[in-house]
Amino acid sequence: MKTNGFDVERIRADFPVLERMVNGHPLAYMDNGASAQMPRAVIETGTEYRSRYHANIHRGVHTLSQEATEAYEATRELVRAFIGAADQREVVFTGGTTDSLNLVAQCWGNTHLKPGDVVLVSEMEHHANIVPWDLVCRRTGARMVKIPITDSGEVDQDAYAMLLAADSVKAVCITHVSNALGTVNPVRHMADLAHAHGAVVVVDGAQAVPHAAVDVQALDADFYAFSAHKMCGPTGIGVLYGKMEHLKGLPPYRGGGDMILSVSFDSGIRYNAIPHYFEAGTPPIEQGIQLGAAIRYLTAIGMDRIAAYEQELLAYATEKLLAIPQVRLVGTAPHKAAVISFVIDGVHPHDVGTVLDDLGIAVRTGHHCAQPVMERFGVPATTRASFAFYNTRAEIDRLADGVREVIRLFQ
Ligand SMILES: Cc1ncc(COP(=O)(O)O)c(C=O)c1O
Repeated sequence: MKTNGFDVERIRADFPVLERMVNGHPLAYMDNGASAQMPRAVIETGTEYRSRYHANIHRGVHTLSQEATEAYEATRELVRAFIGAADQREVVFTGGTTDSLNLVAQCWGNTHLKPGDVVLVSEMEHHANIVPWDLVCRRTGARMVKIPITDSGEVDQDAYAMLLAADSVKAVCITHVSNALGTVNPVRHMADLAHAHGAVVVVDGAQAVPHAAVDVQALDADFYAFSAHKMCGPTGIGVLYGKMEHLKGLPPYRGGGDMILSVSFDSGIRYNAIPHYFEAGTPPIEQGIQLGAAIRYLTAIGMDRIAAYEQELLAYATEKLLAIPQVRLVGTAPHKAAVISFVIDGVHPHDVGTVLDDLGIAVRTGHHCAQPVMERFGVPATTRASFAFYNTRAEIDRLADGVREVIRLFQ
């Protein structure tokens, strides 16, 4: 299928896993919100590292160590360019989005929050952008306050403005794209308001970076977190972008090797420069190099083309699912990424997922680590199909047929 010059069949050929059969059917992988698949270029980059220059980085004089250091650090520049950061030093490698958000909550929160302060957290956050703030609020005496969402699954902007005006808000924590609803939040607008009230904005970009061009400076995000494994890279590595003005002066996140310049029982500890200051211990070297390969791969296709194609998939899937009377969508914001959460009257999502798996269709069922969203919409769980640029309309037809089959079996 070719849509607007987007040759999806050619792209699919880059992903070995898409050749798989699952339960006697060709795999239709629609769990990209959890983890996206890796193209051959990313897999082979890992194999090459393992077989040719696996070595520890930053402190070796030998060739292998230098090659590994160069490849790993090259990813930092790739990330900087990919997200439009001003300076490579603003790119901190972490274990993933969760780790990035914990870093901000701990290092920034412990330093800047005090009793009486408020941290605003939107109701559509993944637990990774709630629990770290709850922990730091308990430690510091600050309060975590929810920014409510509307029936369509958008941040209630009136409530947000009122909350900002009412309290001593120090941080606003919002997801760029909701993993449970698909909603794309107006980050720049919300950041402008937050800044006008002297608050910093912490953006969870886990579901945004893989699906559209992101420019952290245009968004004016103070901190921006994401994971490699959702953008065709490996697990175990992610990024925290932080404006240098905020990173400077933060206490260390974790202590150990690499984040120091020297350690002496007599004369004390001298710390390494940012970003290494936040990166204690041996990092996920192979994964870092593979993240670089993933960025090269995505960039070669073009994030704007990816976004446009995925919007077509979203529109098609929305139409197909809405044509089934028993299906109710959860998350109907006008501006969404290619995530469709739905419930089927009288059928538990777990059963939906199991039947679809029998048909070779991989979707996610459950609360998607966003239980406040489930509470808000009065459902225990949803079924979520989250698309990537290698999905096809034919797969969406199979999804709709599968949903009909679920209804036939259970109702
Ligand atoms: C919006 C969002 N935030 C945070 C996370 C956590 O990412 P990770 O498990 O890679 O740390 C996810 C993962 O599903 C997510 O979708």
